[in-house]
Amino acid sequence: MKKRVLIATGGGDCPGLNAVIRAIVKRASQEHNWEILGSIDAFDGLLRDPMHLVELTPEKVAGIHVQGGTIIGTTNKGGPFAWPVKNHDGSWTTVDRSQDFMDRLQYQNIDAVINIGGDGSQRISQSLFELGCPIVGVPKTIDNDLSLTDFTFGFQTAVDTATDAVDKLVTTAASHHRILILEVMGRYAGWIALHASIAGGAEVCLIPEIPYDINNVMQAINERIDSGKGFANIVIAEGAIPIAGSMAFSESSEPGAMKIRLGGAGLRLSQELKDAGCSIEIRETILGHLQRGGTPCAFDRILASQFGVKAFEMVMEQKWGQMVAYHHPNIVSVPIKDAIKDYNLVDTSSDIVNTARGLGICLGD
Ligand code: F6P
Repeated sequence: MKKRVLIATGGGDCPGLNAVIRAIVKRASQEHNWEILGSIDAFDGLLRDPMHLVELTPEKVAGIHVQGGTIIGTTNKGGPFAWPVKNHDGSWTTVDRSQDFMDRLQYQNIDAVINIGGDGSQRISQSLFELGCPIVGVPKTIDNDLSLTDFTFGFQTAVDTATDAVDKLVTTAASHHRILILEVMGRYAGWIALHASIAGGAEVCLIPEIPYDINNVMQAINERIDSGKGFANIVIAEGAIPIAGSMAFSESSEPGAMKIRLGGAGLRLSQELKDAGCSIEIRETILGHLQRGGTPCAFDRILASQFGVKAFEMVMEQKWGQMVAYHHPNIVSVPIKDAIKDYNLVDTSSDIVNTARGLGICLGD
């Protein structure tokens, strides 16, 4: 009987997920006695009645490495430990179905699980591992906020998208002599904002790791205007914080969803600039989910493929509770529990921050 591996993509999608799936299936097909199943919409496919699992063959995954999204679907709600259930009065609650998850694995004769996801998904991987699940993790996220890996796949593509947006906003800012604010994703980390600011040549970059003083931002804008340049471009991370302020967010009431949804930092900054006396016209752009969609760049396709091949090899080596990681130039395995201990935030004394400062980019401090 063939050995069965269940793979799932969990959390927010990102470019490169399909390249991981394809690489796992291709590598497995070289071994002859393995079968790869996909759980539809993260682990929901295993937990639904009827179950929704699909067999992933080399024919089925041919050419998908260039496609955005994930062919097996995803969700960032719920999961085996917090399954949303509707009460009689219409309200929602969550129940722990982790033991049911383990029973269903056994019922389906599944020998191993590969969970492709960000920090939330890897927390689920770790908890399942502690229940005895033979599981391996693959780190994904555009936010690049998972520790113990140099990069997550999806990040470079998001940076390319954000940089393209900066490039476009620069020309319209210059034509109209305006300040253009671009709000980018990244959750509690400023990686996308910082990289896109350097690549695109923004004048101001505001990230969660460096709380900003609006007076410093105003001063940078004034100096720019006084120097004869009648426009400026600002990139702000969705998690950016004014000094003595907090992150801009709204609360989500979706069942099983994360309560806090970041967003609004760009609009708030626009108002703060006006309140600080800015007399130049300001416009705001929220880049949003464009950063998550589309075809992965070559770097992400390659990293995702490396992760997929390594993840399957870790299954053969029974490296349970381990996550694939990129330690340039090698693909290694690290304990999932260590990777989820702390977020990978921008180190404010790192070379990349120094580079931004050296280019004269105002970081708001
Ligand atoms: O973690 C990826 C990410 O895109 C964050 O950058 C962002 O804050 C969040 O997910 C958005 O989630 P949703 O797709 O649920 O709006």
